[in-house]
Amino acid sequence: MNQSYTPTNEAEFPLWLQEDMRSNHAGETGAIFIYRGILSVTRNQQIRTFAREHLKTEEKHLDLISERLSEDHRSLFLPLWKVAGFMTGAIPSMFGSNAVYATIDEVETFVGEHYREQIDRLKEKVVFPDLRSILEECREDEISHRDEARDAKSKKSSLFLRAWCWLVRVGSKLAVKLARWG
Ligand SMILES: [Fe+2]
Ligand SMILES: [Fe+2]
Repeated sequence: MNQSYTPTNEAEFPLWLQEDMRSNHAGETGAIFIYRGILSVTRNQQIRTFAREHLKTEEKHLDLISERLSEDHRSLFLPLWKVAGFMTGAIPSMFGSNAVYATIDEVETFVGEHYREQIDRLKEKVVFPDLRSILEECREDEISHRDEARDAKSKKSSLFLRAWCWLVRVGSKLAVKLARWG
């Protein structure tokens, strides 16, 4: 995984964009750990293939974001995002494939919306088109991850699973807030 930083126009980033990018870097780090968490628990071959393929894409996303955000501007809470991500993948893996697919559907739906807002803002302000196309590329992948999980999960879900997904969504929202801050 290449996490090196190549100087770009980051020096010109307004504060809001720096915050967006810090939350993206934190989120992609968390995403990698979600899939690592899944792989550390599950023996289900279908889930392992699903997680391995998604993991590769998330590593590519983290590289794309890392290249545009110097270490000084990354989240102070990266160890927390790693642990939280790992748990978000490992916990549902103990309950079977449907719980994993439902969790990924929830996470990727959230991430898709998160990128959508940022893409719209960049479009509206007509700035940093290069960055916008990177976010669009990431968003397309997140949407395909979401759809893949959505198609694979069962249509009915237990109260427990719905509560877990609610927790994942609330946790993701809080994580973005905290990562934007520092
Ligand atoms: Fe991603
Ligand atoms: Fe993803």
